[in-house]
This record gives sequence, C-alpha cells and structure tokens, in this order.
Amino acid sequence: MDRIRIIGGNELRGTIPISGAKNAALPLMIAALLTDETLILDNVPRLADVALLQRILGNHGVDIMSAGKRPGDHEYQGQTLHISAKTIVDTTAPYDLVSKMRASFWVIAPLIARMHEATVSLPGGCAIGTRPVDLLIMALEKLGAEISIDGGYVIAKAPGGLKGATIEFPKVTVSGTHVALMAATLAKGTTIIDNAACEPEIVDVADCLVKMGAKISGAGTPRITIEGVARLHGARHTVLPDRIETGTYAMAVAMAGGEVQLSGARPELLQAALDVLTEAGATITVNNDGIKVARNGAGISPVTVTTAPFPGFPTDLQAQLMALMTRAKGASHITETIFENRFMHVQELARFGAKISLDGETATIDGVSKLRGAPVMATDLRASVSLVIAALAAEGETMVNRIYHLDRGFERLEEKLSACGANIERISG
Ligand code: UD1
Repeated sequence: MDRIRIIGGNELRGTIPISGAKNAALPLMIAALLTDETLILDNVPRLADVALLQRILGNHGVDIMSAGKRPGDHEYQGQTLHISAKTIVDTTAPYDLVSKMRASFWVIAPLIARMHEATVSLPGGCAIGTRPVDLLIMALEKLGAEISIDGGYVIAKAPGGLKGATIEFPKVTVSGTHVALMAATLAKGTTIIDNAACEPEIVDVADCLVKMGAKISGAGTPRITIEGVARLHGARHTVLPDRIETGTYAMAVAMAGGEVQLSGARPELLQAALDVLTEAGATITVNNDGIKVARNGAGISPVTVTTAPFPGFPTDLQAQLMALMTRAKGASHITETIFENRFMHVQELARFGAKISLDGETATIDGVSKLRGAPVMATDLRASVSLVIAALAAEGETMVNRIYHLDRGFERLEEKLSACGANIERISG
C-alpha cells in the first residue's frame, strides 16, 4: 500500500493548477445514463473515484472513451471523456462496486427515469457518520417510484415512468438534490424541489442537463423547478474547478507560509473559506488566472467557524482548517453541523502534538508553537489531506499511511506540492 513521506518546514512558492471538481465530475458522468446519445465531459480529474465510476457505468453497458492529450495541452490538463449510454444492458448496480463509493448510488436516478427500473446496492464511501439514503428514496417515491429494500439492495420500479411532484427536503442534501434533479428531467410534468442544495456542483450539473435538453430553472437557489421532457440528447460540458482542492491548497500555503498561485481557481466558489483564511492572516488576491494565496511573516490567528451548506463554510474543508489552527496563536473553535463523527482526524492530529478537545459537535483547538512529524493514518478523504497540511509545518518526518483515500479525491497531490518546494514523496508498495 502506498504511503507519503513529508519532511516539514519548507515554504510553498509557485503555481498549483486546480483540477476539475470531483463532486461535479461524478454526478455529470452519472447524468450520461439519461440519454442514448454521447455526453462529452472536459476537465475530468484523474482520480480513483472517477476510474471506479467508469467501471460502474461500464457494468450498465456504458461505453467510455478517454481522449488523449492534444498538442498544447498543459501537463495537468484534465481528461476528456466521451460517455455513451446508447444501450443500457443491466439496471443493477452491484454491492462490490457501489460499496466502494457512496456517490455511485446516484445511478438509481437516471436508471429509474429512463429505464423505469433500477436495483442498486446500498452505498459505502467515507466513514463519516451514518450517511443514510432515506431522503433520496423519499424523493424518488414522490416522483412515483415504488421502492422496496431486499438483501441490501434498493429496488425501484416505475412501470409507467416517473411523474412530476413537489419534493420538499427536511434538510439540505447534496445527494438528495442531485437524485431529484436527474430523475425529474425525464418525469412527466413539473417537479419543484424545495430546500434544494445550492452547491456550485448542483449548478454545474443543472447547466449540463440544460445543454442536454432538460428544462430547469432556479439551480443554485433553494427552489429548483424542472419541466420534464420526453428525452435528452448528447452535449459537451466542461467540469467546473474543484473548490475543495482550491481551499485545501490555500490552507496548505497559510500553514507552510510562502506564496502560491492557484491557477484556474474561481474565488466565488469558496468565498466563505477565503474570508476565514483572510481572518487567519493569509493574504488572498484574485487575479485573471485564479487566486494568489500568501502568508509572509505574520503568524496564524485563531478563528471560530461553523460548517454549513453552501454558501457557508464547507464541511469538506473542516479538517484542513483544523490542521491550520493547530499552529494558531490562541484558541480556535470549529463546529461541524453537516456530518456527525467527522472528527476522526482529531486523534491523528494529536500525534503531531496538536491540542484539540471535543465537546459534541465543537472542537476547541489550542494552537501550539511547534508540531512534530509522526507516523499517521489517513481515515477518510478530507481528513487525510489535513494530515498532509499539518506535516508541511511539522518538524521532521511524517509518514502518512493508507493514502488510497487521498487518491480518491486529490489529483497528483504530491507532485503539485513538491513543484512548490514541499519535501514530499510517494513511497510505493
Ligand atoms: C456531498 C459531497 C461531500 C460533502 C457533502 C456535504 C459528493 C460526491 N459528496 O455528500 O463531499 O461533504 O455533500 O457538502 O458530492 N442525509 C440524510 N439522508 C439522506 C441523505 C443525506 O439524512 O438521504 C444527511 C447526511 O447524513 C448529512 C446531510 O444529510 O448529515 C448532508 O448530506 P449530503 O448533502 O447528502 O451529502 P452527500 O451528497 O453524501
């Protein structure tokens, strides 16, 4: 199993290209199941989760061609996928594939919408709380699907097709909104999604669906309206830049010091996080090529932050912020409201000498002047990268074990950081 070795203490200077967003690429690939024509996606990140979803879609009979690089493409250019779900040969998504990645459960929406039936294993994914699918099932039932659960599989049937309905989510859910949105595009009549997630990745998927012929208004607001259409067609769409990758590298620079250009980043996708970083003492400058992040000389100031759905501070940056705050001059408070149990990085950060105490949903981080490198274990995707951030500022060597979590969500992390001067290397085997 691969590991990453980091010797802390180097400042970061240079340019980091931001990849396409994993959390948009996955539902966009799944949306290709809605049409028998080809969906072309540009700027798809090269990630383990993308490769796994290619296998899952292949199981349904989807052909995926990955176009090679063209002259002039830069080193980190995302891949272009040509996805063709001309014939769906199987409407079952099996346990051994779905259990590896939670988002693959979302294939249930296009399958039931287009094929009027789907059998999908209950999902797996990062172990950050219970992460149920009750609201996804509720949304599909509202649209007229009959749902039963048998042997760990959700079996959905809609013999006459789905019908438009009003779906009101009792809490904001990204997965629920993706599923309701995709399913409603082919339902008969009008669907209203109330208390919809406003995340930029929802807007990106809605934009792509509109290019495919869907009639959607209000994406990016809490009320999305969808007029169902009889069929969708092919389209070409570019995946938006990854705001979580952007925020992660911004925090790495704030931690290690130095100055880095985050090329291709879009500041409006993570304004709440950039505001927190500014409060913490980083200098953020927006320019034509993205965002420049610097911390020269000044120490890190403590902050008080509560995670919230977009446009609030994202839960997917909570662990990274906590790593940064371990070096702040004073006590910080971070409250996690989206996922219970998303504090598994706390005990690993303690191995560096961080002082963190937990009280329910709130962590109090008493900044220390020095962290020391240690062997640590990656527990989930975002927690793993928080350990890398801590290691960049820790004295001596850190070995991050179980980095397959990192490969699920961060494209060539060690290459991007070492190009900016970090002493970081992957050790294979
Ligand atoms: C997505 C993101 C993930 C991010 C999260 C919140 C992807 C692939 N993953 O996850 O990186 O951390 O949004 O921004 O895009 N819930 C229920 N019942 C349900 C569904 C969700 O109770 O049926 C709860 C969850 O347990 C959680 C909350 O709703 O407490 C939010 O979950 P949700 O927004 O659906 O997260 P994901 O889509 O799984």
